[in-house]
Amino acid sequence: MSLLQKILISLVGMVLAFYFYSGKEEFKPEMLKGKRVIVTGASTGIGEQIAYHLARMGSHLLITARTEAQLQQVVAQCLELGAASARYINGSMEDMKFAQAVVKKAEELWGSLDMLILNHIGKSYFNYFDWDIRHVQKLMDINFLSYVTMTISALPMLKNSGGSIVVVSSMAGKIGFPFTVTYSATKFALHGFFSSLRQEFVMQNTNVSITLCILGLINTESAMKAVSGRFTSPPAPKEECALEIIKGGALRQREVYYRYMDTKIFTVLRDWAPEFIDYLIRKNYNMDNLKQD
Ligand SMILES: NC(=O)c1ccc[n+]([C@@H]2O[C@H](COP(=O)([O-])OP(=O)(O)OC[C@H]3O[C@@H](n4cnc5c(N)ncnc54)[C@H](OP(=O)(O)O)[C@@H]3O)[C@@H](O)[C@H]2O)c1
Ligand SMILES: *[C@@H]1O[C@H](CO)[C@@H](O)[C@H](O)[C@H]1NC(C)=O
Ligand SMILES: *[C@@H]1O[C@H](CO)[C@@H](O)[C@H](O)[C@H]1NC(C)=O
Repeated sequence: MSLLQKILISLVGMVLAFYFYSGKEEFKPEMLKGKRVIVTGASTGIGEQIAYHLARMGSHLLITARTEAQLQQVVAQCLELGAASARYINGSMEDMKFAQAVVKKAEELWGSLDMLILNHIGKSYFNYFDWDIRHVQKLMDINFLSYVTMTISALPMLKNSGGSIVVVSSMAGKIGFPFTVTYSATKFALHGFFSSLRQEFVMQNTNVSITLCILGLINTESAMKAVSGRFTSPPAPKEECALEIIKGGALRQREVYYRYMDTKIFTVLRDWAPEFIDYLIRKNYNMDNLKQD
């Protein structure tokens, strides 16, 4: 089959998929009213925007990150926007005891939990792999192991409420991208863990949904700083991105692609034309601006 045929067939498939899914339940902001939600990495970026949307929808919020001053500001803003309640707990997700403590705090506050939004990431670098195994280990702890730890801790409450787990991931969790080798490894790990777990939940009649969010480039401060001048595709807005993540979780979708056309096409064609997709991805990088740091 020629490449053109493959592309045409996948396009037809996507159109059909779109019509199929658009016939399903519609999102309403009231779905989140009074729901008890944990959002990690909510001091900045996409997590902060998720908190603001949920506040407007009238959710109970527990947000977390390391920087206390920033969290205090986000909590104040959430209360102003209409959150049913808003609290924070600060600490580092390098520490699994802290990951457990966050869930414990929700249990103390609410005795229940409806949605666990796992979004935080540790700081990494945007450059050729530097062969530092300690960084790999540390980033695995923050980006992967803490997600697993929180899921284990939260599962009894989520089972009780028929709740949802939302995992914020990336195109880099589906396809190999250059300059994010370690980050990409942590995201692939999340996809393996949560996709397998979803299968077992179905087999065991565990009524907890798992939504994996496959994001393209988003205009958060940290991402813009990391890729500045080195990545030629335009970013998508963090506010809309945050809303799509919440919608996907509320509708219990297995995956969210944002922006859809920027991300879905690549992942659909990935296994059919891997060399071509790799080539397209490499074309997006401006090597001249890659610092030798
Ligand atoms: N922006 C993009 O282009 C993009 C693309 C694809 C996927 N994503 C995904 O979207 C999610 C959010 O990204 P973002 O761009 O919004 O990131 P961001 O703005 O850098 O926010 C990261 C959050 O994690 C917290 N954090 C950092 N280190 C931590 C640690 N050791 N322990 C606990 N919390 C820590 C940060 O707060 P403190 O520093 O105060 O701890 C902050 O709240 C991530 O999962 C990312 O992989 C983003
Ligand atoms: C939590 O915030 C306090 C006050 O800003 C700070 O001293 C402490 O280091 C923070 N904890 C972590 C683990 O970052
Ligand atoms: C699973 O949980 C959802 C949301 O809480 C609920 O709407 C649905 O009825 C539950 N399904 C079953 C089979 O209990």
